[in-house]
Formats: sequence, structure tokens, C-alpha cells
Amino acid sequence: MKTPLGSLLPKTPFNRLLVIAATFVAISVAAGCSETGAATAETAETDEMTAIVDSAGIAETATEGERIVAVLGVQPGMRVADVGAGDGEWAEVLSTAVGPLGEVLATEVDEDDVEDLRELAENSFLDNIRVIEGSATDTGLPEDCCDGILLRLVYHHFTDPQPMRASLRRALRPGARLAVIDIEPQEDWRRLEGVPERGGHGIPLDELVAEMTGDGFEVVERFDDWPDEDDHFCVVFKRIGD
Ligand SMILES: C[S@@+](CC[C@H](N)C(=O)[O-])C[C@H]1O[C@@H](n2cnc3c(N)ncnc32)[C@H](O)[C@@H]1O
Repeated sequence: MKTPLGSLLPKTPFNRLLVIAATFVAISVAAGCSETGAATAETAETDEMTAIVDSAGIAETATEGERIVAVLGVQPGMRVADVGAGDGEWAEVLSTAVGPLGEVLATEVDEDDVEDLRELAENSFLDNIRVIEGSATDTGLPEDCCDGILLRLVYHHFTDPQPMRASLRRALRPGARLAVIDIEPQEDWRRLEGVPERGGHGIPLDELVAEMTGDGFEVVERFDDWPDEDDHFCVVFKRIGD
């Protein structure tokens, strides 16, 4: 049964007027508040948009290390690998990101780099870097070892990319990310012995994506312009079906 609105109001005209006026004021205040709320949300959203420049939500001011940690989704306690770690600059960044309960597996094929990495690991504050000697056909990483793998300016150095891809696939845990940062072919840079011909020192982004997606990987994220260095890009992969 419907209740007529009038029956809910006080009997005397003055009291009715009071209730109607109070209701009007309440509705106005509520509307004002919600408008203020919307404005606040809008301001916050605008601020956020100013700070964020791409789909990964990485601040424009982020350092490359922060970008690497963000695209790999590195969290404290994870075990991650830096394949072709060189002098260990990025392994150190990852070491801080995974923290004392995590581990960084730093691989290299170059003897001098392996030595430098060993020294770095011995002196590392968190004591969480393990050095692994790889080969041209094997990362040396244990099967199912890693929650994330970084390849920074390394893929185009592979003389035998196919077995390296297979080794990377084996090392990744289900759903784990592999970030490949690389550079478009540079015609005037030194020629690398034994690597596939790709028009210079480096690899075209599309060629990298074709090689990886043709061999068990899918693209998760793609940054055609990786900041700070000309012609750099970053593609984040995971195993197909994970
Ligand atoms: C240009 S350096 C990049 C070093 C480091 N990732 C960085 O960004 O500073 C390329 C490195 O890849 C290493 N490398 C080449 N082939 C490799 C392989 N199959 N496995 C591991 N490292 C490899 C080289 O020894 C070299 O140190």
C-alpha cells in the first residue's frame, strides 16, 4: 500500500514549512558535497595522469633501474636473473629490489665479466647475488628458477639465439616476465662476430618480436621508445599459455 507523502508531514502549516525547508537545505548540502567530491576525484585523476606516462604506470622521472624493476614486476623475496649481466650494474639494482630474502642470478659468458661479477657478489651488502657461467647455447640457469629475467642489450649478442630462447623458457616460472631491452641496428658500431646478420649492431624490434613469438613467447608489454638512450626499446614477454 502506498503512503501519501502529505501524511508523513506535520499537521500544522508552520511545522510543515520547517520540514520542507530543512529537507531542501539537506538536499542542497548533499548535492554540494557530492560535487566537491567529484571535483576532488577529478583533480586527483588529473594529477595522476600528469605523473604517469605509459601503460605500465611508470613515472616520467623514473630511472632506468626503476623502470626495469617495474616492468619485471619485481617484489621483495623474488628470485630474478640478469642474463649477460656485464659489470653487474643492473644486477645490483635487482639485488636491492628483491631484498635480503630474494636472490639475483647474474650470468655471463665473458671471463672478465664473470670475475667482476664474483667480486661484486662477494662485496654485495645484501649477499644475495649468485654468479653463473653461461655458454653460447645455455643460460646456465636452473629449470623453473626465476620470477623474472632481464636481458639488457644482450639478445643481439647471442650467436645461437634458438637454444638460448629454449634455455630462457625453461628457466622462467609460470607467468614470469622476461624483459628484453635492446637497440635498433647501429650501422657504424663494431660488428659482432658470429651473430645473425641484422643490418648492424643491434636487432630491429619487429625481428626480436617475431623470433620470440615464433618460439613459445608472447608479448605482455612493449615500449617502442625506452627512455634515456636513442633507438632503445623494451619488450616484455612471458611464455605462451602461462
Ligand atoms: C652490451 S653488454 C650488456 C651488459 C649488461 N647487460 C648491461 O646492460 O650493461 C652484452 C653482454 O652480453 C654478454 N653475452 C653475450 N652472449 C651471452 C650469452 N649467451 N649468455 C650470457 N651473456 C652473454 C656479453 O659477454 C656482454 O657482457
